[in-house]
Amino acid sequence: MRVGILTGGGDAPGLNAVIRAFVKYAIVSYGWDVIGVEDAFNGLLESPRRLRAMTPRSCQGLLHRGGTVLGTTNHGDPFAWSTPAGPIDRSGELASAVAEEELDGLVVIGGDGTMRIAWRLMQERGIPVVGVPKTIDNDLAATDVTFGFQSAVDCATDALDRLHTTAESHDRVMFLEVMGRDAGHIALVAGISGGADVILLPEIPYDPARVAEKVARRVRNGRPFTLVVVAEGALPARPDGSAVPAGEVKQALKDGGGAGQIAMRAVSRYVDAEARLCVLGHLQRGGSPVAVDRLLATRFGVAAVDLVAAGRWGEMVRIHHDVVTGVPLAEATSSMRFVPADSQLIATGRAVGIEFGRAV
Ligand code: F6P
Repeated sequence: MRVGILTGGGDAPGLNAVIRAFVKYAIVSYGWDVIGVEDAFNGLLESPRRLRAMTPRSCQGLLHRGGTVLGTTNHGDPFAWSTPAGPIDRSGELASAVAEEELDGLVVIGGDGTMRIAWRLMQERGIPVVGVPKTIDNDLAATDVTFGFQSAVDCATDALDRLHTTAESHDRVMFLEVMGRDAGHIALVAGISGGADVILLPEIPYDPARVAEKVARRVRNGRPFTLVVVAEGALPARPDGSAVPAGEVKQALKDGGGAGQIAMRAVSRYVDAEARLCVLGHLQRGGSPVAVDRLLATRFGVAAVDLVAAGRWGEMVRIHHDVVTGVPLAEATSSMRFVPADSQLIATGRAVGIEFGRAV
């Protein structure tokens, strides 16, 4: 057996731990050849190809290393390859490259976009694929959790701890923008863990006046500082209370300078308090994976070998009720997980006084 392995889309802490586990298990227990493909699918499409034979030795020291040693990109869709003249379909070339390199299949580690590409490659080009999900956003419905999420949460929680002391010293309203374009899991979990006073999520269009009232209430109660966590996809409700339509969200965020800016401006209209914004950005994606993510990534890497060994191409590794199994890619790519309105975590947050910007 000769298997290619690649990482696609944005990076997440734990990618290297998956690669390491896959390579060690595949080579030591099965004697396969494992070929690393550089920069997502690009390594197979460029000339000369950028491929490298992986060995347990080449994976030494990878368990705790952030990023991906194979490199990645979120601009390498073989079905819509970007050219100055517009996107072109290079999926046929990719299939030829896989055949020429005598690869029996590809193990594709990536987020929802990469999983959709992998599934199309199998369906439309006959390339056998096994998927391994990753995203710090934890918004893939097919798996209970993805590696990278907890590392991002810990980073955001640490940021809140730090902002707490400076906010308190200056009596300021401190806004922390965290990642989470479509789903607010990082904001919600880090917000509760870091003692935020307000959490704003993409799933709950918020009323800035309510947030301002929370700030004012805290001042009246002798707590003249407030910590507000804003997910990068969170927006105020429109005047009639409805959400900004999905198609307009990206533009609204761009025009407004980002979710944190928008929230700070909107809330400051209602309350006279000094405010500052911290955008945590890619710090959440960098650095070492925390122990939970190293463990999950290792389990996913091992499970990917098991799927390949069993000939279960077309499946994606996932964890469900603490058991790592495979799920058909068709199913895995069909839905995302958002924070539900009846989330127990939101109820927990409200119980300890956190404001979500909207009445229950
Ligand atoms: O999907 C993961 C994620 O980190 C999002 O939370 C964020 O919106 C996006 O990637 C950022 O992507 P890029 O690295 O391309 O700026």
